[in-house]
Amino acid sequence: MWRTCSGPPPVMLQPPDLSLSLELPEITPAEFAQIQQLAREKFGLDLKPGKEKLVEARLWRLLRQGGYKNFHQLYRDIIRDTTGESLIALIDALTTNVTSFLREAEHLEFLATTVVPALWDRPTIDIWSCACATGEEVYSIAFVLLERFGHEIETRLQLLGSDISTRALRYAERAIYPESRLANLPPNWLQRFFLRGHGRMAGYYKVRPEICRLVKFERINLVEPFDHLPRFPVIFCRNVLIYFTPEARSECVPRLVDRLEAGGYMFTGLAETLSGTDARLAYVQPGVYRKKPARKLRRGGNDQWSDDGV
Ligand SMILES: C[S@@+](CC[C@H](N)C(=O)[O-])C[C@H]1O[C@@H](n2cnc3c(N)ncnc32)[C@H](O)[C@@H]1O
Repeated sequence: MWRTCSGPPPVMLQPPDLSLSLELPEITPAEFAQIQQLAREKFGLDLKPGKEKLVEARLWRLLRQGGYKNFHQLYRDIIRDTTGESLIALIDALTTNVTSFLREAEHLEFLATTVVPALWDRPTIDIWSCACATGEEVYSIAFVLLERFGHEIETRLQLLGSDISTRALRYAERAIYPESRLANLPPNWLQRFFLRGHGRMAGYYKVRPEICRLVKFERINLVEPFDHLPRFPVIFCRNVLIYFTPEARSECVPRLVDRLEAGGYMFTGLAETLSGTDARLAYVQPGVYRKKPARKLRRGGNDQWSDDGV
């Protein structure tokens, strides 16, 4: 069903999703407040007033699947479910997984031209994409670095893609994308980095297995501890903190910085700023921050002194 990509790609037509009935209840202010509080506590998400219709539309499917008459019944069962499965279904429904290949490409350029050359002598080059959604970000990193450094980097590149959404992670792991999602990739990359689908998979492309092998995926909720992870020289944390409450953001950033090596780089979305969130970070350029080198401590009698004044 998968062949190497050559010849013109086929045209893909997708039928609209008409599965949702229109006879579904509206969310009441009290029900919205319950979901809002749950999302804030469990996932750090900031469902601001005004998002009622969005939340309602995103939860209708869960309402229908569970046969619930209103949003309070859904909320009540989520709270009662000790397996955590219902919470996962809730976050899967609420999250915005919008992403694309080569999104905010200036970051990828900076990674390839400035960051990775400085890591070149290492046995492995480890990069964490901590809200990788459906995988486009983490595969874009692989494509750009493979394009720049060729097979030399293939044996050393180790990518971790994580997200809170199991649905998005399943998609990322499958690594199959409709042709429409690949429109902004250079045409020769389709051949180089993908297999083309045929028969039932016509119109779809699958990332080549040798590239998939460079990436591991893991479900990580950024508002919960992730100290089991090693320190990374590079963390991509793009377009996720904007959905967090200010409290969740100010707790999460220092924990991410803890997972960054001294001198390591953190990428955020171009529209996001980390200024003022953690004194260990220095601004480099829009959406790029660098962790300051570790302080060198000098002994002076029984006291310790650092050089850097930070
Ligand atoms: C808009 S996408 C950004 C994807 C990609 N980083 C990019 O910039 O294109 C935001 C992602 O953050 C994830 N997310 C939201 N809350 C999260 C949390 N508490 N922990 C981890 N990931 C979370 C969502 O599931 C979603 O996939």
